[in-house]
Amino acid sequence: MPAIITSIAHYVPSDVYTNEYFEKYLDTSHEWIMERTGIAERRFAKEGANSDLIIPAAKECMEKRGIGPDDIDCIIIPTVTPDHMFPSTACVVQNKLGIKKAWGFDLSAACSGFLFALITASKLVESGAVKRLLLCGSDKMSSIVNFDDRAQAVLFGDGAGVVLIENSDDPDYGLQDFILQIDGSGGQYLKQVAGGSFKPASFETVQNKEHYIYQDGQAVFKAAVKGMADVTVEIMEKNGLRSEDIAWLVPHQANLRIITATAKRMGLEMDKVMVNIEKYGNTTAGTIPICLSEWYQSGKLKKGDKIILAGFGAGFTWGAIYFIWNL
Ligand code: COA
Repeated sequence: MPAIITSIAHYVPSDVYTNEYFEKYLDTSHEWIMERTGIAERRFAKEGANSDLIIPAAKECMEKRGIGPDDIDCIIIPTVTPDHMFPSTACVVQNKLGIKKAWGFDLSAACSGFLFALITASKLVESGAVKRLLLCGSDKMSSIVNFDDRAQAVLFGDGAGVVLIENSDDPDYGLQDFILQIDGSGGQYLKQVAGGSFKPASFETVQNKEHYIYQDGQAVFKAAVKGMADVTVEIMEKNGLRSEDIAWLVPHQANLRIITATAKRMGLEMDKVMVNIEKYGNTTAGTIPICLSEWYQSGKLKKGDKIILAGFGAGFTWGAIYFIWNL
């Protein structure tokens, strides 16, 4: 029987950085950023680690479901900005929340992280191996952004979205289908060059700024437009879905132009697309659960809504999920 989302919450830092902030020290403008990306502002955490974004959202998520730390069996954290390379941020979060009898791990799929983790989590609860799973899509992108590079400084933000995954005996709600893909030949276009075993940290790697994001924006843009649109159309066809059947497209928020291209290929009007990129920028693993949480909180996402989640990210990684909202 399908996995369902039984609670949801999100957290974004309170410190807002507008486009005017970047205009002051970079050769850029509010007009350029809005026109090319759709981003007006983003939030950066001045202090703390990724786990500090997760904790408030995770607490709220458990509270809304009326459960506590003892009820969680497993924690999965998709992220590219773990607190440490090891131990996993799942271990840090387990300890900070006082969860006693859980296992868990971090998952590396960049901007597709929430999608890959949602399927992993769903299959764990559907098999009966896990009862209640906390899935925390979260990134503190400000810890790896090169703020001297105008082509990336303006794109990213910090934020966390947390969902509780449980099993259901009603086939009419929850996870219906998914298509996920990876293609390592795209790895060269978007990566963190140093810090792993390929190129361990050294004086040179720091001097060459190789611990920040490296991105060939145009190559990623082209692949993202094609990848996200192809996979959403494929999942619609596979499930006999017409555009009028879909209540919401929930796209990864990397660039408004990628989002509109995907909606167009699906035949969807933009009023059926969740977009909050103007407020938060790209929070990587955070974008999709933050959208879901905001739309649910405001009453726009309703029980029975057929939704398509779609994302594309470094790897390359990409995919789409067909889900019927159950809350
Ligand atoms: N302000 C002003 N000019 C900028 C700028 C900024 N913030 N960022 C880049 N530019 C400049 C470039 O330097 C370039 O100038 P040049 O022609 O003098 O060299 C010019 O704008 C065009 O650059 P280009 O890379 O072609 O712009 P673009 O329209 O492709 O937009 C991105 C750049 C990064 C916004 C866009 O490519 C993008 O969004 N890519 C995908 C990124 C992504 O999704 N990453 C996350 C993975 S999910």
